[in-house]
Amino acid sequence: MSGKNREKFLFVCQSCGHQSPKWLGRCPNCDGWNSFAEERVAPAAPAGRPGAPAAAPCQLRSLTAARETRFPCRIGELDRVLGGGFVPGSLTLIGGDPGIGKSTLLLQCMDTLAEKAKVLYVTAEESVQQVKLRADRLGADAEQLYLLAETSMARIVDTARDWQPSFLVVDSIQTVYSHELQSAPGTVSQVRECCGKLMQLAKGEGITTCIAGHVTKDGAIAGPRLLEHMVDTVLYFEGDPSYPYRILRAVKNRFGSTNEIGVFEMAGSGLREVANPSEIFLQERPEGAPGSIVIPSLEGSRPILVELQALVSGASFGTPQRSTIGIDHKRVSLLIAVLEKRVGLPLMGQDIFFNVAGGVRLDEPAADLGVVAALASSHINRPAPPRTLFFGEVGLTGEVRAVARPDIRLNEAERLGFRHCYLPAGNLKNLPEASRSLQLTGVGSIAEVLEELFLS
Ligand code: TYD
Ligand code: MG
Repeated sequence: MSGKNREKFLFVCQSCGHQSPKWLGRCPNCDGWNSFAEERVAPAAPAGRPGAPAAAPCQLRSLTAARETRFPCRIGELDRVLGGGFVPGSLTLIGGDPGIGKSTLLLQCMDTLAEKAKVLYVTAEESVQQVKLRADRLGADAEQLYLLAETSMARIVDTARDWQPSFLVVDSIQTVYSHELQSAPGTVSQVRECCGKLMQLAKGEGITTCIAGHVTKDGAIAGPRLLEHMVDTVLYFEGDPSYPYRILRAVKNRFGSTNEIGVFEMAGSGLREVANPSEIFLQERPEGAPGSIVIPSLEGSRPILVELQALVSGASFGTPQRSTIGIDHKRVSLLIAVLEKRVGLPLMGQDIFFNVAGGVRLDEPAADLGVVAALASSHINRPAPPRTLFFGEVGLTGEVRAVARPDIRLNEAERLGFRHCYLPAGNLKNLPEASRSLQLTGVGSIAEVLEELFLS
């Protein structure tokens, strides 16, 4: 065998795809431990020109734009996240933890799409019988919905080419394999190769394709993160498994915005759309409890009222405990320091637990004022006044800064019967005139609002 064509073995990090000629304990790229596995790398294609002649360049202004068509699946929350439905011939990845509901979502939307077009659902994880059981729970029985239990990529591609479905689902990318590679299904090279094949299929045949992919926290299986740059649209399905709510987020979308979210509830008969997330997230709120604060948070263009809960208690001993769920740990630490320094609340030695109720994840600075109010309320052990909410970004000097879209936050609060809102003075100045049932108080610094409510 000549040296050039010899098979090449490399060690590949299974979480980020970094390659190394020798085994490493820690990946220098993603800092993952024990993530390298040996994989055979296909010999590179011989150098030279490709056989087909080069295409002639075309003038941009001479092109006429094709009118955008979409296939809405009539699950409103999903259509909104996609930007109005599936784009024909696009490749969409739905990622999420195992058991979060990816297969359920795919089956539900394919069931509606199959009323009008042929759908091929390739199940590489479950048997056809198992999918049938799920379909019965969901009431899915569209005539043109076909199942195929198959894990070989070559056979999937052949069937799809022969059959020409309008939609193809591959559930999941980690369990299909290409026989051209020797590594096990789910490894980085397999996942990449199979995704590449599906991309060719989608673009070549115009088949709208969806892939389900698992993400694991420890990166044990090649994560869909690897595929993000290969596909057109990446949606993440997330939620706390102990709550029924699931949030669908677009992480990348070549055909729409990445700001939109879809909210679902996992029920006995599948996923139900949640049209009024605020009502659900506030349902079990303990009114008049110290440490509980409502904020109008913005997810994409959509305002959602969520409850923040803080528990501040005397530290038992040694280093105080800090734990947060649903919000950045560092952001809360920063706000604790601001409270300590600017308002003089002695929080440094206290155990502090912080939670965003309902399994929601917040990453918006507009939540700051609510966080500060929740901490102060729990520390002083005095509840916030009833039907009151807070929003605003807090800076290091304790100033409250204006945030985006105060109007739609206030409209949502009003709709749900809130009476009073503390908001940045900067926002109050520029608010369009509207008659509101909501009393508005503009604040310039956290000291103003805390002294009025908790410290006097
Ligand atoms: P599934 O779609 O199989 O998750 P994934 O494909 O992301 O691994 O959904 C799994 C969970 O959803 C499972 O714990 C059962 C629950 N479930 C319901 O609560 N109601 C239903 O109607 C269905 C189909 C599933
Ligand atoms: Mg599944």
